[in-house]
Amino acid sequence: MHTPENAHTITAYVYRSRTRSLQPYRIDSAHPISVMSLVAQLHQKDPTLACRTSMCFHGTCGSCFMNVNGQDVKGCTVLVNPGETVYLRPHSRYKILQDLVVDFNQPLTSDE
Ligand code: FES
Repeated sequence: MHTPENAHTITAYVYRSRTRSLQPYRIDSAHPISVMSLVAQLHQKDPTLACRTSMCFHGTCGSCFMNVNGQDVKGCTVLVNPGETVYLRPHSRYKILQDLVVDFNQPLTSDE
């Protein structure tokens, strides 16, 4: 059976605060994975990518809030399928500390 070249590749464009741009990454995966698993793999591949690592992975702690494909969501509850492309940015309603990490104690006001 012929398999397209990117059928087992997840492409992620991830916000980097230093350049204020989206950095492309590719991860091989034969199965759907959560956004948080994807972020953990990206951090392993590129330790300069700032992200939260103390997480429940069960949708209860809220530390994984981020913006996935334009929606603020809990990253551990969203699956990414092999062959898909995702756009990961920090949560839109909190002050950015670095890359995907926001300060949950500093919500943005409407004029920021
Ligand atoms: S990791 Fe705790 S809610 Fe997602």
